[in-house]
Amino acid sequence: MQGFGSYEETYRDFDWQKAREMVGYREGEVLNIGWYCTDRICEMGLGEKTAMIWEGFSGETEKYTFNDLRINSNTYAAYLKSLGIKERDRVCIFMDKLPDLYFSFLGILKIGAIAQPLFSAFGEEALFTRMEDAESIAILTTKKYYRKVRRIKDQLPALKHIIVVDDENVKLEEREKTFILKNAEKVDEFDVFPTHSESPSVLHYTSGTTGKPKGALHVHGSIFAQSVSARWALDLREDDIYWCTADPGWVTGTSYGIIGPWSLGVTQVIYNGGFGSEKWYKILEKYGVTVWYTAPTAIRLLMKDGTGLVKQHDLSKLRYMCSVGEPLNPEAVHWGREAFGMPFYDTYWQTETGAIVISNFPGMEVKAGSMGRAFPGIEAVVLDLNSHEVINEPNKVGLIALKPGWPSMMREYWNNEEVYKSKFINGWYITGDRSSIDPEGYFWFVGRDDDVINTGGHLVGPFEIESALIEHEAVAEAAAIGKPDPVNMEVVKAFVALKPGYEVSDDLELSIMNFIRKRLSPLAMPQEIEFMEKLPKTRSGKIMRRLLRAQEWGEEIGDTSTLED
Ligand code: WTA
Repeated sequence: MQGFGSYEETYRDFDWQKAREMVGYREGEVLNIGWYCTDRICEMGLGEKTAMIWEGFSGETEKYTFNDLRINSNTYAAYLKSLGIKERDRVCIFMDKLPDLYFSFLGILKIGAIAQPLFSAFGEEALFTRMEDAESIAILTTKKYYRKVRRIKDQLPALKHIIVVDDENVKLEEREKTFILKNAEKVDEFDVFPTHSESPSVLHYTSGTTGKPKGALHVHGSIFAQSVSARWALDLREDDIYWCTADPGWVTGTSYGIIGPWSLGVTQVIYNGGFGSEKWYKILEKYGVTVWYTAPTAIRLLMKDGTGLVKQHDLSKLRYMCSVGEPLNPEAVHWGREAFGMPFYDTYWQTETGAIVISNFPGMEVKAGSMGRAFPGIEAVVLDLNSHEVINEPNKVGLIALKPGWPSMMREYWNNEEVYKSKFINGWYITGDRSSIDPEGYFWFVGRDDDVINTGGHLVGPFEIESALIEHEAVAEAAAIGKPDPVNMEVVKAFVALKPGYEVSDDLELSIMNFIRKRLSPLAMPQEIEFMEKLPKTRSGKIMRRLLRAQEWGEEIGDTSTLED
């Protein structure tokens, strides 16, 4: 695929029809991401090329070629089909970053079903909310996690299959089964379901301002945007060794941890372990990573351990580093230059956009602290906060808005047309982020326009946390906000009023924290709980989260005339 030229020329000459051509697609043809990332790469003669270098938590490694990827995803596809799972059925994947996650993701797509990845650290309640809403028919999981599903399965009538993929000795209950890839008969030929560019592919749940998480539904045609942006914004080329540190439970881990790079036949390193500066540098060094896609929280943690540690490793192969998920501080960009000899290139996008929409590009001047410029084919503007007119004036903060029509845009929020529609105003898709734009079209992120909490690049919805908090036996009222944090940008802080008969204590605080960690996830767990007699409310009885947040951030409180006296 052709490289990125000068920004101005590329932006001017590009349209999404060109992307279809670059990806080698002709209108009306079958388009299937599963096939495209495996069979097609093999047909191009790259079957024996390494697709995945996998390293587990304790250092064990496995390698798979594109042909392995093809056969293993076929085998998953055939198995799921044999269970009667068909096109458009929602199939969850709930496991650590195991090779099976990747094979099954592609296998689900090959039968035309919808892949619904769930972050492996989710607790029962977080799982339940997402599986109930999607009426998921099956879930692929492991011995580490299947009990969480077992505990909620009675409340999930649509769920027919709970499939454990790494242990055939688990004592199975009703609806549970095991499928062990290495024992299964390998399927060399599989008739891929004839999906087309508008067929649904991936369903990712994301947190909104109010209400439950929403399922952003994507289509197979998203690959046009994911492939071209992996080539241009991540600068991926055929010989690269690429490492995306994101988990496929979040959109970065699927769009750029599976689809984008494999659609280009690029070798990926997948590390199924946690963060550790030394460990991460070792991964970069050992596998000769050339392109690295990570997040500001990780970069800030690396910065804490200093430049010296970087220099102790041979990272001479590394040639391009990108970031996503939160604002990338200018210091991080400068530190990248100092420690690695190159800046981190910031990229901006969302679960809803499916692919990078604003970015820095190779060869383009990086202005530290800016997210970069609109991706070719994307019309991105800043709208006035109130009138929603385009402002696009330097230093004027407004809403980032995008003209709909790029291939990886979500097609709906699952079961939630009303909220989906509310995202569009005057023909613009409103991202919910605030930014200004400079005369050269660089976007300067300011913050979110809603109450969603961004902790370490992961969005958590205050409503979900508050709903879980009030299920704790001691909690009468609760509010959750993001509180500034030097490493994670924000962490969750909860305000809690207790029921009569309960006393504030360290034990109780811990019990509430753990309750949320178990029910939702470690990310959603409040790092701090402030106990109050009662929470500030409007006259109509709504808790004023905005007021609590403003106090926490030392901001103007604004109009409090509707506050209860
Ligand atoms: C935030 C992740 C500042 C933003 C791909 C957005 C960013 C939300 C950046 C989407 C960036 C993402 N600078 N903020 N470069 N990239 N964000 O849906 O608030 O998990 O709306 O998708 O993360 O998060 P999501």
